[in-house]
Amino acid sequence: MEISIKRGTPASQKAACIVVGVHTGKHLSPSAAALDKTMRGAISRILKRGDLSGKCGETLLLPEAPGAGPERVLLVGAGKAGALDASDFMSLVQKTAAALGSVHGKTAVTCLSEIEVKERDLDWRVRQEVLALHAAAYRFDQMKSKPKPAKGAYGRIGLLVAEKHAPAATEALATAKALVAGLELTKTLANLPGNHCPPSHLADAAEEIGKAYEAVEVTVLEQADMEKLGMGSLLSVSRGSRQPPKLITLEYAGGAADAAPVVLVGKGVTFDSGGISLKPGAAMDEMKFDMAGAASVLGCIKACAELALPLNVVGVIPATENLPDGNATKPGDVVTSMSGQTIEILNTDAEGRLILCDALTYSKKFNPDVVIDIATLTGACVIALGSHASGLMSNNDKLAEDLLEAGTLSGDRAWRLPLWEDYQKQLDTPFADMANVGGREAGTITAACFLWRFTKDYRWAHLDIAGTAWKSKPKGATGRPLPLLMEYLLARAAKA
Ligand code: BES
Ligand code: MN
Ligand code: ZN
Repeated sequence: MEISIKRGTPASQKAACIVVGVHTGKHLSPSAAALDKTMRGAISRILKRGDLSGKCGETLLLPEAPGAGPERVLLVGAGKAGALDASDFMSLVQKTAAALGSVHGKTAVTCLSEIEVKERDLDWRVRQEVLALHAAAYRFDQMKSKPKPAKGAYGRIGLLVAEKHAPAATEALATAKALVAGLELTKTLANLPGNHCPPSHLADAAEEIGKAYEAVEVTVLEQADMEKLGMGSLLSVSRGSRQPPKLITLEYAGGAADAAPVVLVGKGVTFDSGGISLKPGAAMDEMKFDMAGAASVLGCIKACAELALPLNVVGVIPATENLPDGNATKPGDVVTSMSGQTIEILNTDAEGRLILCDALTYSKKFNPDVVIDIATLTGACVIALGSHASGLMSNNDKLAEDLLEAGTLSGDRAWRLPLWEDYQKQLDTPFADMANVGGREAGTITAACFLWRFTKDYRWAHLDIAGTAWKSKPKGATGRPLPLLMEYLLARAAKA
C-alpha cells in the first residue's frame, strides 16, 4: 500500500473510489457537499431517500459518480457534526478501511481527515487513518504456500486535505508510516510460529535493524556471556530447551551523547509450554506470542530510527524457550539471580519474571532515565482487564501518568494497578529470598512485585500485555503496546 497526501477538489480526483463523510441530519461534510454539487445532487437525494442515516461508521458504496473524476463514491457515516470523539473516529476509520476491502479497483482517495474530532487535531486524525488503512490491509501469509494478495482498493490511497493543511498532513503521514513499519514488524514477529522464531531469530531481527540504521548498535550475548554475568535466573528458564538463549540489546543513539536513555525491556519467550509445570493443551499454540513484548521493543527501535527521534533509546531482550526436559528446572529448585537475590522456583510456568529480573538488573549499566518492561506476563491480567487495556504498574507516579496519557492519546490504553508493599509477603518462602509465585490472589500485582525487587535503582514501569498483544477472533498479533510506547517516546522527543 502506498499512501500519499492529495490536494485539489474531491471531484477532480482520479481514483477507483473516493471516500467522503456524511453526518446525521442529512448534513454533508465539506467534501461530500462539493462532490454532491458536481454530481447534481445525487448524494443529497440518497440521503433524502433514507439510504444512509449518517450514524458513525455506516457505509454505502455508490457504484457510479456521474460527472466526477472518481469512479465510485464510498459514503461513510460520520455521526453528529462536531460531536465525534476519539474512539468514534477510530471506529469510523476502521470501518472505512474494512469497507475498502470489498471495493473493486486499486486506488482510493479519502477525505475523512477533515472530519472534526473533539480534543484531537489533524495530525492525530491523519495518523489514525493511516494506521487503520494499513491494519486492514495487513496479512500474515508468509507461512502459506500460495499467498493471496489483499483484496480491494488498497493499492494506492490518497488523503485529500485542504491546501493550507498539506504541510502538517505530510508530516503526520511520515510519522504514521514509521509507526506502521514498527507495528508490522511487531505483529509479524509475534505471529511467527515458534519453530520459525526461536531466540536466534529475534537476534537476527535485531541485527537486521542494526544493519539498516546507522544510529542503532546491536549486541547479542550468548549463554557463556550470561553465565559470566551470573544470570542464574534467566538461564534457569532455558535449561529445558535445545535452542540457545540470547540476550539482545539494541542501542539507538538519536539524542545527545550524555542524555540518559529510555530503556525498553521486552519479554522474549519464543514458546512457553510452562516447562515442567506444563500448561494444559488447549490454546497452547498461542504461547508462541509470549515474545510479543520483545517484538514491540524491536518495532519501537525500528520506528525511532526511522523517525530519527532526538532521543536515546535502548532495547533489552532476554530471549529463550520454556520447555520441559530431563535437564529442565524443577519446581522447588533455587537459583541465584544476577542481583544476588535467590529465588525458589515453585512454578516453572512463571518464567517471564525469571528472565526479566536479570534483564532489569543488567539494564542498570545504561544509566537509564526510565526503564519500561513489556511482557505477556500473567493470565490474571487477562481476567482483570480483558483485551481492552494493558496492566500498568510503576514505582514512579509521573512515569505512570505519562504512560497512561500516551495510552489514551494513541487509543492503546493502559490501566494502573497498585504496587504496594502489602502484596510483597505473598512471595515469602522459607527456602530462598523469594518465591517466583505469590498464589492466586492479585497474580498480576505479585508478578510486578517480584520485578519491583530488581528495579530499586531507577524509575520503572511494567506493562502486562497478556490480554492486549493478541486477539483470538480472528487469531493474530495486535502490535500493542507499540502505539502507546511510541506516543510516549514522541512526546519525550517533542520536549527534547
Ligand atoms: N506467558 C504466560 C502468561 C500468559 C497467559 C500470557 C495467557 C498470555 C495469555 C506466563 O508465563 C504464565 O504462564 N504465567 C502464569 C503465572 C502463574 C504460574 C503464577 C499464569 O498466568 O498462569
Ligand atoms: Mn509461563
Ligand atoms: Zn510466559
